[in-house]
Amino acid sequence: MNSQDLPNAFSAREGDTEQFGVYIHWPFCLSKCPYCDFNSHVRHAAIDEDRFVRAFAAEIAMTAGRAPGRTVSAIFFGGGTPSLMQPSTVGAILDAVGRHWQVTPDAEITLEGNPTSVEASRFRGYRTAGVNRVSLGVQALDDRVLKELGRQHTAQEAIAAVHVARSVFGRYSFDLIYARPRQTPAEWGNELKSALREAGEHLSLYQLTIEPETPFAALYSAGKLRVPDDGTARALYDTTQDICAAHGLPAYEISNHARPGAECRHNLVYWRMHEYAGIGPGAHGRLNVGRLDGDGDRHATATEKRPESWLTRVEQEGHGLVTDEVLTRAEMADEFLLMGLRLAEGIDPQRYLALSGRSLDPARVAALRENGLLETTPAGRLRVSLPGFPILDAVVSDLAA
Ligand SMILES: C[S@@+](CC[C@H](N)C(=O)[O-])C[C@H]1O[C@@H](n2cnc3c(N)ncnc32)[C@H](O)[C@@H]1O
Ligand code: SF4
Repeated sequence: MNSQDLPNAFSAREGDTEQFGVYIHWPFCLSKCPYCDFNSHVRHAAIDEDRFVRAFAAEIAMTAGRAPGRTVSAIFFGGGTPSLMQPSTVGAILDAVGRHWQVTPDAEITLEGNPTSVEASRFRGYRTAGVNRVSLGVQALDDRVLKELGRQHTAQEAIAAVHVARSVFGRYSFDLIYARPRQTPAEWGNELKSALREAGEHLSLYQLTIEPETPFAALYSAGKLRVPDDGTARALYDTTQDICAAHGLPAYEISNHARPGAECRHNLVYWRMHEYAGIGPGAHGRLNVGRLDGDGDRHATATEKRPESWLTRVEQEGHGLVTDEVLTRAEMADEFLLMGLRLAEGIDPQRYLALSGRSLDPARVAALRENGLLETTPAGRLRVSLPGFPILDAVVSDLAA
């Protein structure tokens, strides 16, 4: 498909102007948590951060060459553990972004971190470098559970890091994992209420997923790790929604809660299917390549995952891209459903039509609506209902079929 075939889908934003995000991946952690399948690696030798800065800058320059003239409204340092980077490394990467794209004065610049005291001691340096939001992986407020999750911090240390974050940054968030082995809704409710006492305006609450090829997956297959059954998982989910909504932090996405207006702008770029550059080892991007206004073919990009191989590729070729594919209309339409239906605001069916060239099947929509899984808002948007969220994947596959 060439850009002439594309309807004006990328500029037809529903009450929301086009955003451009930059994702930077820092692929190292102090240790590997047994549940995690993120692209994160443990290295015992020191990391040559200057060499990484040069490679990040090269990849940013190459990406800006393909997507020139954009205005960046959100930058996200994700990992791995970006709070292991020196503040000067973060500053140098932000300088490179600013050399190649315009960055809005109020851009959201988030850094993901682990809540150990050593990392909290760097927060001021990150703020000086330009970071204005942190997101911390607290995971649990129970030391026994933190140990089972392989975490390198206690609950008290995590809370202390949250306090430092609150004093240094205007905006902060933290993550918790629930639906853990043996967890009851009553216990989770109490833990969540304690967490909300420390929360600002944003909280990410993830149900434990057993990811293939992790140590947790091996324990699960051996019957040594049990996750809550479907009924308990549902009760844990309902407890989460009730407590957070009562606290003024409703879910704006299946796992993310915020005071209205305090949503993570970077993540909204993904879920609203805007454009973003993926920089660093194993980073994914979506670029509308071809025309200066960004209304060209939508490319799905991905870079080499192994940090050292990524470095070598960038040094030799100027980028670490291993995937660069033009998405078909059908793929874009599926992605639009998959991403947009995660959001409480739902999707605009007209945008689906513009992307895919066909309407959603009215019979399927009607059946899902009758079963109470889908609803239409007064503005004509389609969204998954609260009872539909726990089976979101099934709802999306039904609609996309
Ligand atoms: C890249 S990590 C966050 C930053 C940092 N590395 C940390 O762990 O504190 C992103 C988040 O994904 C969540 N996560 C990772 N693996 C998960 C899994 N298997 N199930 C549920 N949540 C998971 C955790 O809450 C984690 O904080
Ligand atoms: S959860 Fe965070 S600290 Fe643990 S391995 Fe994954 S990225 Fe690293």
